[in-house]
Amino acid sequence: MKNQLIVITLTGLLLAACSAEKPMEKVISESLAVAMQKYDLMAQEMKSMPDRLPRTLDTEGKLRTEGSGWWTSGFFPGSLWYLYEYSGDQKFRDYAYEMTARVEKQKFNTKSHDVGFMLYCSFGNGLRLAGEESYNEVLLTGARSLSTRFRANIGCLQSWEANKKWQFPVIIDNMMNLELLMWAFRKSGDSTFYDIAVTHADTTMLNHYRPDFSSWHVVSYDTISGKVMVKQTHQGYSDESAWARGQVWGLYGYTVMYRETKLERYLKQAERVADFLINHPNMPADGIPYWDFNAPDIPAALRDASAASIMASALIELSGYVEAGSSAAYMAFAEKQVRALASPEYLAAPEENGNFIIKHGVGHLPGKSEVDVPLTYGDYYFIEALMRLRNLQGK
Ligand code: GLY
Repeated sequence: MKNQLIVITLTGLLLAACSAEKPMEKVISESLAVAMQKYDLMAQEMKSMPDRLPRTLDTEGKLRTEGSGWWTSGFFPGSLWYLYEYSGDQKFRDYAYEMTARVEKQKFNTKSHDVGFMLYCSFGNGLRLAGEESYNEVLLTGARSLSTRFRANIGCLQSWEANKKWQFPVIIDNMMNLELLMWAFRKSGDSTFYDIAVTHADTTMLNHYRPDFSSWHVVSYDTISGKVMVKQTHQGYSDESAWARGQVWGLYGYTVMYRETKLERYLKQAERVADFLINHPNMPADGIPYWDFNAPDIPAALRDASAASIMASALIELSGYVEAGSSAAYMAFAEKQVRALASPEYLAAPEENGNFIIKHGVGHLPGKSEVDVPLTYGDYYFIEALMRLRNLQGK
């Protein structure tokens, strides 16, 4: 915290000396104003579609929605909670309640590793901001459902169901679902949740990471022996490449695991991943990663703005846990990313991008799905990054 304040003060002084750069405070307030305008309209649009939640725009530019079972269902409600936190406007509270309720039935979902994303972003933020007592039960039931996917002889939660290619696939993204388990441990005192989260994080550290601290996307295990069978990709350029969003899920996940456990090994892991990303020769100057760090057509390759949102939010948190030099570097990089995301290149004007906030996300390029589109999680983590910066400024 002290390091972050020093960085913010120094950044402030530097900005004052350089009149060309907009003060960060203004970047934050203007971006959140756009977010409120867009998501007010989105919430009104969603009223006529009961049980649906926004996902992206289709190739014709029309809103694409999903039922609550799709992994992104919690992000829109979560964003509305953040906008309520920012504005104090009851309208956003009402929207947030309504959209959060649409996700509730996922608490019984034992077929998805993404229950953490779905419930913690929606009900987790709702509990934090509205203190809604009934949300505790939803989150605990969800954590129990998620825990059923843990297999002790492997030491991981299973991501996707078994298929022709993979017996027990675990994706790096799954690190993001551990926060729900850590919350459940704190709430219930049941150490099973803690043990599952820590074991999953340790196994992932061992098997998903290469010596340079880039990560494979998918590691599939043998269900009998518990051993690694293959290390491959699903959404990246190649098995050996560094798919951008996977890298930043890992960064965010280990940062959270350090916050929740205070185990030094998770802090070290988060720092090494951050350093790999920040110093990567293919990281563009504005900090918005190409969709894959090894995409063959760099510098013409598409950027994935969602990866930048997630990374910025994670770096802001991580900068509060590390020594002064790293703290300054992480905060400066995150601020650079937020500035780029808040520029007209990425932040949507009123007449573009439907009612989504951030442009130019890449969902699944090899699958030709969600290529250069808005993504609801790109919006969510951008808003989160803005709120984290704002909170550090003591607003
Ligand atoms: N968890 C899926 C993705 O990042 O696309």
